[in-house]
Amino acid sequence: MPNETTPTLTTERLILRPWRDSDVDPFAALNADPEVMEHFPAVMTRAESEAGIDRVRQAFAEHGFGWWAVEAPGVAPFIGFIGLWAPSFEAHFTPCVEVGWRLAKEFWGRGYATEGARECLRFGFEDLGLDEIVSFTTTTNRRSQKVMQRLGMTHDPVDDFEHPKVAMGHRLERHMLYRMQRDDWAGEVDSSSRHG
Ligand SMILES: CC(C)(COP(=O)(O)OP(=O)(O)OC[C@H]1O[C@@H](n2cnc3c(N)ncnc32)[C@H](O)[C@@H]1OP(=O)(O)O)[C@@H](O)C(=O)NCCC(=O)NCCS
Repeated sequence: MPNETTPTLTTERLILRPWRDSDVDPFAALNADPEVMEHFPAVMTRAESEAGIDRVRQAFAEHGFGWWAVEAPGVAPFIGFIGLWAPSFEAHFTPCVEVGWRLAKEFWGRGYATEGARECLRFGFEDLGLDEIVSFTTTTNRRSQKVMQRLGMTHDPVDDFEHPKVAMGHRLERHMLYRMQRDDWAGEVDSSSRHG
């Protein structure tokens, strides 16, 4: 699958870029890390990670967006992924576009997820012209919820849902939904420029 359908996005410290074959090893390693995958039903095998990259390249070809491979220049050529995705399951808020992230543990606690995701929101609202972008995670995943809050996304408990792809009664079944509308995005950009 060619990579030319993947736009490259840049932030102060990150490059969100097309996937390279050299990303497979670090991607498989982060998906096999039980701490990274604590809020997912299972860690992933190398074959599942390889298939995941194929699906991501397919998504960029089909929609013009997907999970970008993230590079931190001068720090590491691959730290994880951040991006936009159109979930395939049905729920009360689908069809939708979500913003999401998964970074290797050593790159947590530096603000990278929020920085990269903010650029994905900009791309989604300004370049793709989306009206709304959502994000969701398990009720257990405080770190991810904090990224959503830092981005200025909002949570209404009536939106919370049982993830249809998680087994009924599983400890990770219950999910929280955060939303951002295009107008909220414009407001966030305004207030951050006012605050310098
Ligand atoms: C979810 C995940 C991406 C969050 O990572 P994170 O490092 O906590 O989030 P950020 O990259 O936004 O970093 C924010 C933290 O960096 C700190 N930080 C340090 N230097 C910073 C800087 N220069 N700029 C901004 N924040 C900085 C912030 O204070 C904050 O720390 P705090 O939460 O202790 O207050 C990460 O935990 C992860 O990959 N988890 C596994 C996969 C996963 O669960 N994905 C989500 C599924 S829905």
